[in-house]
Amino acid sequence: MGAAIRSEAFINGQWIDAATRFDVQNPANGDTVAAVPDLGAAETDAAIAAAHTAGPGWSGLLAQERARILEAWYGLIIGEADRLAALMTAEGGKPLAEAKGEIVYAASFIKWFAEEGRRAYGRTIPTTVATRRYVTIRQPVGVVAAITPWNFPAAMITRKAGPALAAGCTMVLKPPQQTPLTALALAELGVEAGLPAGVLNIVTTSKSRPVGDALCADPRVRKLSFTGSTAVGKMLAEKCAGTVKRISLELGGNAPLIVFADADLDLAVKGAIASKFRNAGQTCVCANRILVQADIYDEFAKRLTDATAALKVGPGDEAGVQIGPLIDDAAIAKVSELVADARANGAKALTGGAKLDLGARFYAPTVLANVTRDMRLFREEIFGPVAPLVKFNDDDEAVSLANDTEYGLAGYFFTRDVNRAWKITERLDYGMVGVNDGILSNEVSPFGGVKESGLGREGGVEGLEEFLETKFINFGGM
Ligand code: SIN
Repeated sequence: MGAAIRSEAFINGQWIDAATRFDVQNPANGDTVAAVPDLGAAETDAAIAAAHTAGPGWSGLLAQERARILEAWYGLIIGEADRLAALMTAEGGKPLAEAKGEIVYAASFIKWFAEEGRRAYGRTIPTTVATRRYVTIRQPVGVVAAITPWNFPAAMITRKAGPALAAGCTMVLKPPQQTPLTALALAELGVEAGLPAGVLNIVTTSKSRPVGDALCADPRVRKLSFTGSTAVGKMLAEKCAGTVKRISLELGGNAPLIVFADADLDLAVKGAIASKFRNAGQTCVCANRILVQADIYDEFAKRLTDATAALKVGPGDEAGVQIGPLIDDAAIAKVSELVADARANGAKALTGGAKLDLGARFYAPTVLANVTRDMRLFREEIFGPVAPLVKFNDDDEAVSLANDTEYGLAGYFFTRDVNRAWKITERLDYGMVGVNDGILSNEVSPFGGVKESGLGREGGVEGLEEFLETKFINFGGM
């Protein structure tokens, strides 16, 4: 893997150890990759204090000075992409090519927001009184707490840190227990790029609750940005209410991918494979239900099954592997349970449908036919390589099935009819819609959901807004 793995936490510009450490495991084989400090509320308090103290200096820089540091960070991440990808594969299981793709994706947020940070414009407002002048300015919200997930060990950090730091905020980051090493490696490059002490602090922990509680309760923290499950997001939102923090929540999804009879089927199969099997199905925007019009159901099912059965599964560092292990034993247990429930209620596995003999955490890429609304996997986020097929007859039924969920993150559909494309897009209750494409994430567009999939947007011009306050100024006595 090249350079030594950075395995201390990072607070106030110092690499910090602790009396106890916890192991980071390789999900492909259970080996220990490294052990990192198991920090708690006291260290979280120190990290908040550091971020709070560093705030005025960082926000006092010119936007272009912050941009220069962020651009340098971007360059270092890209320069180290192979090493970072190998680290990500070791701790998260993601196939190497996909991990490298994530590093480039992650870096793109740093660069985009370095640029966008220079465009945090206020407004002049036509006055209502002759002796007054009205303007607004934009200012950083202050100390930001970020809590990020294991499924994108780099990109979910930079999608928050990029805009927060560009806006002039400072940050305390709690990376996930499963994949803290990528976070620490990113921080190390941030230091090399010139991030001053206290601007970015990383609290590694296996005890989410005391650290999360400290972040939510502290009045010095003015904003929480969280990516993770809807259940945890709701809990954090309640805790942040005590100090009326601003919150951004990127939560669970239950994405429909609709294939209309007039679709280009090759494109639809390609899109379904890309959406469903990215990161072994462990993304919030993965197709969770594939809705297929009755006229083409059998043909589409056959083509999807062939493409799914051809996917290569194995440890992420093995050449050509497309599907790695699931993150942990709980993930395998959940996927197995959901498939068993579907089968018990009439679903049929066209391929896969079982664990693989490659290690404890490998599940076969699976296509399930005859899935209906009353099965658990119609409603629950699968977070695994299972593609459930649901048959529908017309547009109304497709929309009704698609919207029949409390989630509203991403939805996809395939059609050649422009009219239908507009109308279906407007009727889908989702924050993001992919038309004739199974992948929609990028740094320049707003990522986020409606309903119980979250609040706020990341990426795009909207991503910067999340970290800015608007101050209105009335110049009187003119
Ligand atoms: C996620 O699964 O939460 C993020 C997916 C993405 O950025 O595309």
